[in-house]
Amino acid sequence: MSVSILNKKIQFPENMKAAHELILKAKKGEKGNKTGASYALPAFNVTTYQGIEAAMEAFEILGSSGVIAFSNSACKHFGKGDALEGLEYIHEHVKFRASKSSVPIATHLDHGDNIGEQGRKVIRKAIETLTSVMADNSTDHANKCATSLKVNIEATKEVVDLAHPKGVSVEGELGVLAGVEDEDTHSEISTYTDPEELREFLTTTGVLMLAPTIGTMHGPNKGKPGDKVKLNIELANTCLKLANEINPEIIFVAHGASTLYQQVVDYAIANLESLGDLSSEAATWKNFVGTDWNQIEGLIKNGFCKINTDTENRQTYLAALLGAVKSTGSKIDIRYYEKITYKALVDSYVQKLIMAGNYGVWHEPKINVNEFKLDLNL
Ligand code: 13P
Repeated sequence: MSVSILNKKIQFPENMKAAHELILKAKKGEKGNKTGASYALPAFNVTTYQGIEAAMEAFEILGSSGVIAFSNSACKHFGKGDALEGLEYIHEHVKFRASKSSVPIATHLDHGDNIGEQGRKVIRKAIETLTSVMADNSTDHANKCATSLKVNIEATKEVVDLAHPKGVSVEGELGVLAGVEDEDTHSEISTYTDPEELREFLTTTGVLMLAPTIGTMHGPNKGKPGDKVKLNIELANTCLKLANEINPEIIFVAHGASTLYQQVVDYAIANLESLGDLSSEAATWKNFVGTDWNQIEGLIKNGFCKINTDTENRQTYLAALLGAVKSTGSKIDIRYYEKITYKALVDSYVQKLIMAGNYGVWHEPKINVNEFKLDLNL
């Protein structure tokens, strides 16, 4: 069976690229006209226009390569319940915003699928409106079970055959990732990627981006409070080696890469405690557990060059909002709260881009990256 090759000649609107093109550059360590260590593109899940703008500003501050990701429920939110309409709003808005940008970016459908009727419609629309899609066919979300390898391969190959000729890159998933991201993306089950199946999956589907499951999880509770989350690094490296032998242009994706910023947690708890009897809310914050950055950093060096982060940025937003409400609960000006949460989001994105080594790619950073501090008290 032949595989569809990604059409690299397609011209997207100004400053927009297929995610694969930007991430491959990161895997090769290309920045400006120099080549160094691999870095990663955090794919920032956004759900609002404010989120899009904040991500764009963070990319521009650092001269970074950027991916802005939209889940199905985010698309529904933009379209007031209609994901297909939401994708049109996103397309028009980002196209205009990117035309004013100092850096190229990619737009990505996160956890699209080609299993149910609605999923099939959304992923087809995303191929027309975004520059990259995820075809997560390893889980049948409606029936809460893993799909067979055969179903996953067939459903993913169909998406690759539709998307690659249009220059749209595709991310597949092999294994089932646990955790809760939002109402449309959650799973109570989890299975590791089977390296035996990986070769067949990659060679038959032709996907150039793969999310293997190696122990990362979606959401704010990735492990037991006080314990370090342990990823299966050995399995990750086995899978990477195998994929690189098949095609060194294959990119690996770490989902559930939110690390949880302790200073953000402390800030939120301090504000909750001074807002009255919100001790149970503060206790929830205290129990959040993020992934272990040292392990993610090691994976980036080896080829996990797309790292998905959503939760930590939502936490930063909420912590900043709590601080704003605490400082004045009677200011009747939306812009006041918007400015505070916007700055917090930009800083949250800047922090992760610096951690991922993704700066100075398209131009020199506009700030001193060594001196940057994510601090909501400032
Ligand atoms: P987090 O919940 O760790 O932010 O992961 C998000 C994600 O993987 C989106 O696909």
